Amino acid sequence: SEPLRLGIAGLGTVGVGVLKILRREAAMLTARTGREITVSAVSARNRGKDRGVSLDGYVWEDDPVALAARDDIDIFVELMGGSDGPAKAATEAALKSGKDVVTANKAMLAVHGQALAELAEGNGRVIRYEAAVAGGIPVVKALTEGLAGNRITRVMGVMNGTCNYILTRMQSSGLPYDEVFQEASDLGYLEADPNLDVGGIDAGHKLALLASIAFGTRVAFDAMELEGIGRVTIDDIKAAADMGFRIKLLGVSQMTGRGLEQRMAPCLVPAASPIGQLEGGTNMVVLEGDAVGQIVLRGAGAGEGPTASAVLGDICDIARNFRLPVFGQPAGTLTDVQPASSTTP
Ligand code: HSE
Repeated sequence: SEPLRLGIAGLGTVGVGVLKILRREAAMLTARTGREITVSAVSARNRGKDRGVSLDGYVWEDDPVALAARDDIDIFVELMGGSDGPAKAATEAALKSGKDVVTANKAMLAVHGQALAELAEGNGRVIRYEAAVAGGIPVVKALTEGLAGNRITRVMGVMNGTCNYILTRMQSSGLPYDEVFQEASDLGYLEADPNLDVGGIDAGHKLALLASIAFGTRVAFDAMELEGIGRVTIDDIKAAADMGFRIKLLGVSQMTGRGLEQRMAPCLVPAASPIGQLEGGTNMVVLEGDAVGQIVLRGAGAGEGPTASAVLGDICDIARNFRLPVFGQPAGTLTDVQPASSTTP
């Protein structure tokens, strides 16, 4: 069948991670999806920058909107970030010109997701955004596919690795907030606008997206009760520890008699609980369904490999038109296995 052609806008950590997997695993991806996945064109702010990955063979576009509208792409992969501006303009251009979109942009979706979803539907296209929520954890797929037979009763979790790093480090080192914030900054953990992290906004965007999927509601980031970690003091952390608790930036979303509750705020959680024990830059999402009970997903919520992993998952879903093979690969292409127990020493 025809190759699936990508246009990738944004060649930061995630974009580079996606290119690396596409180059390294081309054969595997073709075997899994039945289609060759190619990159036609790329776009980023700085053309000359050394990214540690070759851009040979890809057309360069300065303008992501022009990239999105190119005739030689099937999927627009949006990895620029930012709720408005070029990311949104290019996503709209892609959908209007008949492209599917894969994005990691939680800010754009939390604010404009509804309108973009309607634009996609109107044009018979899809937007996939697994990478926008909890990085490498496939929580969007868990909710939309695996748990489709459940009424989801609650979604909660720790969805900003930077805040979790800061709170965990305060606890383990006894250092005050300002010093640990500076450490996180020196380590390059913080978003360009640090308030997106420590203000709880980034985590709030992610929770708003999950709540919409879980409860079938419009994405309502505006309606979220939001408090960041900027007022958590080392005394708070020590007092919590003395009582056997940890302070975590915890998001909770549940349907109540008064409507959808969405709250992202520093919370006391038992030190011995899975969330209490969550270390460093990790994310954890807890899903509760009426039939399944509680499910805990834990993994890297950011970084090159984990976020690229989620982007590739979405690209592969589109490549195989959302028709999963019964086993690992399309019928007739599975590799034979010699049972380990039958091999003679
Ligand atoms: N700043 C985010 C975090 C990156 O720390 O989790 C991933 O969205």
